Amino acid sequence: MDTDSSRVESATNLSGLRGSVLALVAVADTEEALEQLRTELLGKKGQLTQAMKELGSLPVEQRKEAGQALNLIKTEVEQALSQRIASCAAERREAALQSEWIDVTLPVSAPLFTSTGTQHCLTRVRRELEEIFRSMGFRVVDGPEVEKEYYNFEALNIPATHPARDMQDTIWTTDGNLLRTHTSAMQVRALERLEPPLRIVGPGRCFRYERLDASHEHTFYQMEGMMIDRDVSIPNLIYFMKRLLREIFGSEQKIRLRPGYFPFVEPGFELDIWFQGRWLELLPCGLVHPRVLESSGIDSSQWQGFAFGLGLSRLVMTRYQIDDIRYFQSCDLRFLKQFA
Ligand code: PHE
Repeated sequence: MDTDSSRVESATNLSGLRGSVLALVAVADTEEALEQLRTELLGKKGQLTQAMKELGSLPVEQRKEAGQALNLIKTEVEQALSQRIASCAAERREAALQSEWIDVTLPVSAPLFTSTGTQHCLTRVRRELEEIFRSMGFRVVDGPEVEKEYYNFEALNIPATHPARDMQDTIWTTDGNLLRTHTSAMQVRALERLEPPLRIVGPGRCFRYERLDASHEHTFYQMEGMMIDRDVSIPNLIYFMKRLLREIFGSEQKIRLRPGYFPFVEPGFELDIWFQGRWLELLPCGLVHPRVLESSGIDSSQWQGFAFGLGLSRLVMTRYQIDDIRYFQSCDLRFLKQFA
């Protein structure tokens, strides 16, 4: 019912109107609700627009005052709406940020843990060997993979002009170091640090510039061994090598010794084992060359020793009947899971 008296009433009861519209603005809690409210209050047919129109029916003396008051209310409502819309938008952005926020330091979610990793077969055998050697009084040592030319070649009696260098080409760094071509580099490091008598093994990754095939890989593993003591001779060497193979394979192995040339041992041997109907080159070894001892300040008339370079990759291949060395580095789960 739109009577004159009600119009006058609504136009004059402005403070009531102000309170109720501001309350509506205060309780609207989404940007959409507030926009809707803006239309309902200030739109063409909005409540405040309507009230403004109704002022015309007021007596002139009241009209001016009421008009000013109503304009103030409109301004106030507009400001309140804008403020509320801005704070709702801010809240929405904050909520979005919260829900999308990831703490990268938290442990990964459970499903990823349903399949745990396992030790690589090379690691497993290496650790087994370390235990065997420890039980025989050997100390396990480590050395750098990026090695000085001195330790990899020079100190091992392989000078720059030596043809043996051609057989062991590798990757060189621009500052003249190289990726070690054999674990023998650890021999001299150990001789420098430790006093004889000593027994060490040094397992590790080696690198060579190779033509790749099933038995040659640019990256492979060896385990260096060295024993320095008084009166060490070839029978000691052979005894140790046989014992070593017995520990590794769990039974006596058929072996053969061939002369082998390595500049840092004299005499040097290739020790092969009989495996699946053929001889397998597994354990190059020899008596430590006096020059190697002397270059580390050890009196070779007092001390002698033997050294060997166990082909760890090759041994693991033998043990698990792996027919291609490239599987080791392939990261192929079908391969890796077989050793779980
Ligand atoms: N370092 C030699 C190689 O990698 C192997 C070896 C080690 C030979 C110790 C004798 C003694 O070919």
